[in-house]
Amino acid sequence: MKSSSYRGFYKLPLEERLRIISEFAELSDEESNILRNPDALPEEIADHMVENVIGRFTLPMGVGINFKINGKEYMIPMVTEEPSVIAAASNAAKMARDGGGFHASYTGSIMISQIQITDLTNPNYAAITIQEHKEEIIQMCNDKDPVLVKYGGGVVDVETRVLDTAVGKMLIVHLKVNTLDAMGANAVNTMAESVAPYLEEITGGRVYLRILSNLAVHRLARARVQVQKETLGEGVVDAILRAYAFAEVDPFRAATHNKGIMNGVVPVVLATGNDTRAIESGAHAYASITGTYKPLTVWEKDHDGNLVGTIELPMAVGLVGGATKIHPQAQVAVKMLGVKTSSELAMIIASVGLAQNLAALKVLATEGVQRGHMSLHARNLATTVGAKDDLLEQIVSIMIKEKNVRLEYAEELFNKLSTK
Ligand code: MEV
Repeated sequence: MKSSSYRGFYKLPLEERLRIISEFAELSDEESNILRNPDALPEEIADHMVENVIGRFTLPMGVGINFKINGKEYMIPMVTEEPSVIAAASNAAKMARDGGGFHASYTGSIMISQIQITDLTNPNYAAITIQEHKEEIIQMCNDKDPVLVKYGGGVVDVETRVLDTAVGKMLIVHLKVNTLDAMGANAVNTMAESVAPYLEEITGGRVYLRILSNLAVHRLARARVQVQKETLGEGVVDAILRAYAFAEVDPFRAATHNKGIMNGVVPVVLATGNDTRAIESGAHAYASITGTYKPLTVWEKDHDGNLVGTIELPMAVGLVGGATKIHPQAQVAVKMLGVKTSSELAMIIASVGLAQNLAALKVLATEGVQRGHMSLHARNLATTVGAKDDLLEQIVSIMIKEKNVRLEYAEELFNKLSTK
């Protein structure tokens, strides 16, 4: 059986890493070339994606390795500008393997589309009227997207809320729409716009906003992990629990804790051509749903003293439509993951978020982040002065050991050691 676990992956030359990934994900030559090609997004496509295009902007794509999720092996494409993130996720995924990897679930792709009805003297009465006409409303919306309905999606429920606002009471209608494998923004916005005149007619009110909510509380991805105490080392479980306890009660820390989670989430969302801002806003709104900003993960200790962690966050990602279908590299990223449903993609992303948080807490609660950053920095410096292979490793290890990570020192070591 193929495994995503690979020793010394980071030390391999880029071509070799790409060869391994291509073999793992059964990518064709054309597909692996797309991953390497800085021109993979043709100018003509870029020009149609957004407005006023003047160029294209590339970022590194790396692979999160060692991931086992629901018993399946994954090599995960991650696009990010931040060093250490991919190594940290891979490290955490490795630690999780002894406990069986990640177990993830998904509530289903139910999006909320909001319709704001104002100018009502009787919003509560109007809310009940809307509930009485629920079937007609559902029908009208579903008629707008017969393809979605054909595949089993469409509006599943209609909810109403009366809000007391600075400009008076207003009635908010939520269309709950199963968008299946689409992120669904277009589908749900179209439905809300099309049903609005009918809602005005039956309530006597006036409709203003008709737009989805990114607080996708019916589209949650969840993951859990158990990390053996022996894998973590003496005292590390308690150290991580202390770090978590801090985030639990302090929004200043919780913001950074969640930023670390998004360090893992966003690169996969981006690599697969999904909307990173939708995921960010949904995550942070969900983190504050109790009225206080909280961490998106929870860490505990099991009966045997092992560390157990969970994550739960809205995950409105799709596999059809949007940049996922247009961007050639996003398509290859989806192929790399081997996912066939948005549900599987959502579960992978939640697991990466949990892994990233585990990695951050472990480092913060033990050695601090600077050591890892320094080693990466040392590697960059050694590469810059022209060191390769064994010489590179030697220079890195001397700089770290002597806590002297500077370009001049890298140069000095290179000159000294390469002439030996
Ligand atoms: C840095 O990008 C992310 C961390 O600050 C996350 C955290 O503090 O938990 C290391």
